[in-house]
Amino acid sequence: MHTGKQLPLLVLERPQAAGEQERGRLEAKYAPRLQYALQWGKWVSYVGNKHVPGLRLYRYKEAFSFALVRRFLQSLKAELPSPWVLDPFMGMGTTPYTAMRMGLPGIGVDKLPVAVAIARGLIALTRIQPGRLQQAFRHLRDRVASLEPAPIADDVPIIQRAFPEPILLRLRQWKRAIATLEPPLKDVFWVLFLAILEPCSRTTKDGQFLRLRPQKPLRDPDDALQEMVVRAEEDLQTFRILRARETWGPEPLILEGDARALTELPLPGPAGLIITSPPYANRYDYTRTYSLELCFGFVRNFEELRRLRHAVLRSHIESRLDAENEPPPHPAVAEIEEALSKKDLNNPRIPIMLRAYFVDMKRVLGEMYRVLAPRGRVVMVVDNVRFEGEHVPVDLILSDLAEELGFQVESILVARFKGNSSQQMKKYGRQPVRESILLWRKPA
Ligand SMILES: C[S@@+](CC[C@H](N)C(=O)[O-])C[C@H]1O[C@@H](n2cnc3c(N)ncnc32)[C@H](O)[C@@H]1O
Repeated sequence: MHTGKQLPLLVLERPQAAGEQERGRLEAKYAPRLQYALQWGKWVSYVGNKHVPGLRLYRYKEAFSFALVRRFLQSLKAELPSPWVLDPFMGMGTTPYTAMRMGLPGIGVDKLPVAVAIARGLIALTRIQPGRLQQAFRHLRDRVASLEPAPIADDVPIIQRAFPEPILLRLRQWKRAIATLEPPLKDVFWVLFLAILEPCSRTTKDGQFLRLRPQKPLRDPDDALQEMVVRAEEDLQTFRILRARETWGPEPLILEGDARALTELPLPGPAGLIITSPPYANRYDYTRTYSLELCFGFVRNFEELRRLRHAVLRSHIESRLDAENEPPPHPAVAEIEEALSKKDLNNPRIPIMLRAYFVDMKRVLGEMYRVLAPRGRVVMVVDNVRFEGEHVPVDLILSDLAEELGFQVESILVARFKGNSSQQMKKYGRQPVRESILLWRKPA
């Protein structure tokens, strides 16, 4: 697929400086396949979903957009060797949702149970009759005050600090009320409920953290949920119109599972296309950002939350590594570790996280290769990162690992350049990094 211009070498990220030979080699090897595609920049983030019915109901900040998935499905649909469209890191399920709207069967996998609940709930919404949500809401609202508060993981410190007592109590009563519903209403109300936790709390999902904001104005749970119900009812009307215009495919299969072990999942057949975006190697911890949601519905206590933190892909700073049995999976990773060992890092665990990240991603790529049909395609959105001025070309390292596994690397589309933090800017100057869309193919 040709979507952009070839990149001139001078915008590549400082190839061939001393101690950067491996990265320089990668930049030189892939330079002919790197293309500008800055027109895709606005679609690699969730912002594009603000007007998409269903998807607009939950602000999954790490999502990519319906428009991005649709564009790739439109251009690749005709040549797929199998109709199944898979996302092994589905998040809120943008890929399976879009596949369904475009007439294709989708499969979404995520390790975070809250992501699975959101993706299932948004698909369940398409099964609801207009008016049913309002009706169920009125029924529950009349009873909620009399209900016993449901248990949550209240030994997790953030829960105590995030909510004033009356709001916490009412939210726990709403959890109890929603549990009395039957699917698909129950699945939909769960998503709407999860969506109000942040506005009813003293927290904000900010950059890489869940920040406490003691002065933040708080929403009343009953009002916030009612507002969500009204928006969801609007979406039911929009779905009616869309169904008349589009030929929808079957409901996608939404699975809780590990992208490092896709072959262990009950997949219905080989995938023809994978459209995905893994966690980035940027210290981001999903189990912290989504800790309110997790504590309300998916873990019973702090210990379970901690276990989940160590069960997801190792992209965060608490990641553990079995250094002896997990060597750097690519020479560029070893080179970066060596370079970082000479620097004064603000967190000494960064090199551990980086190696663990690439060990995990190599496993993921192997599994993707196995579940993909011959001639199947991969579209993967990734961000490069930089620590203490040390550049980590995630897009090239993953592409090189993929090539080693047998994939053909067709092109690397540069969708955006992201700036570095102001702190790093002061120290190292302006050093933007690429956010890229990797296009690979499994040979026939
Ligand atoms: C960048 S987000 C994907 C967002 C998605 N494209 C969307 O539109 O919502 C990465 C996802 O990977 C998930 N994840 C982390 N570790 C995983 C693992 N081992 N297996 C599967 N999913 C995992 C996270 O929970 C997160 O939802």
